[in-house]
Amino acid sequence: MNISKVLISDALDKAAVDILLKRNIIVDVKTKLTPAELIETIKDYDALIVRSATRVTKEVIEAGKKLKVIGRAGVGVDNIDVETATKNRVLVINAPGGNTIAAAELTCIMVLSLARPVVAACSKLKSGVWDKESFKGSEVLDKTLAIIGLGRIGREVARRMQAFGMRTIGYDPFVTPDVAQSFGVEFMELEKIWPLADYITLHVPLIESTRGLINSVTLNKCKKGVKIINCSRGGTVDEKSLLEALNSGQAGGAGLDVFEEEPCKFTELLEHPKVVCTPHLGASTKEAQIKVAEEISFQFLTLMDSDSLNVP
Ligand code: NAD
Ligand code: MLT
Repeated sequence: MNISKVLISDALDKAAVDILLKRNIIVDVKTKLTPAELIETIKDYDALIVRSATRVTKEVIEAGKKLKVIGRAGVGVDNIDVETATKNRVLVINAPGGNTIAAAELTCIMVLSLARPVVAACSKLKSGVWDKESFKGSEVLDKTLAIIGLGRIGREVARRMQAFGMRTIGYDPFVTPDVAQSFGVEFMELEKIWPLADYITLHVPLIESTRGLINSVTLNKCKKGVKIINCSRGGTVDEKSLLEALNSGQAGGAGLDVFEEEPCKFTELLEHPKVVCTPHLGASTKEAQIKVAEEISFQFLTLMDSDSLNVP
């Protein structure tokens, strides 16, 4: 595939530019373009690299008359209209492995922050109040962590939380019980998981079968006080149901990195005392950003070297 001019439209580690420049590709970094500016700009480029801020819409793809490939420096391609890309013979590629550890580590931090109210105690202490009474936590030892989605991130979360002595159970329609056992997860159907879990963490894409997976019906099947963690995709947790469950005590806490709408404007949820939240920071480590930048640019080089793809 012939790629001579690449547009990077989101903030990416400079490793991406360095790798592409070594192959004499012209690389322009233009972030924070408005949709109209992107539609105008894309006309000149063979390839586009984005993170999550750029919405690669039908209009953008159709305006990209020279466009051959769109690279997502991360896992989810939900910000790219893959259907239109496919119709227009534009290849969509991602960098699935580079931020696995970062997202898994943030998930573990969420579990531990729900067990021990570090965030609330810290902000009270910073406000000048020495309060030892209000912040009694609980141990995670011998508690049950349910992992829904046993892919790259789910598995890393399992291994890490097992080190804290948690029992790990989980479900994934594409993973067998034997494979789950190989990383210490007891495979169970969802109906068996709900009443057993002390903590439930989601590591699934947002697709039809996962939209609103955590909702009022499933929450009511859970143990009273269940804690929900979502560092996967907004929309897999029904936020209104979660808020109701937090208010009634059916849910004992939530650790949220992703939201139905981003930036999230659901202040009642964000400000809830039982919620620990971050603004989609799962992949935001120095290491992960270097890895995804390298991963996506090396894939570009592989495409350039590949004659097997029937793309001019
Ligand atoms: P992955 O593809 O390795 O794993 C996802 C797993 O979900 C797969 O094993 C798949 O079989 C499973 N799955 C699909 N449908 C399911 C269902 N109905 N029920 C249960 N499991 C189901 O992906 P990953 O790298 O582990 O990423 C998981 C999610 O985390 C993705 O949505 C990704 O976009 C997101 N993510 C978020 C951040 C962040 O910044 N918060 C960072 C990285 C990844
Ligand atoms: C991903 O899907 O890789 C994450 O959501 C991280 C990101 O947005 O960069």
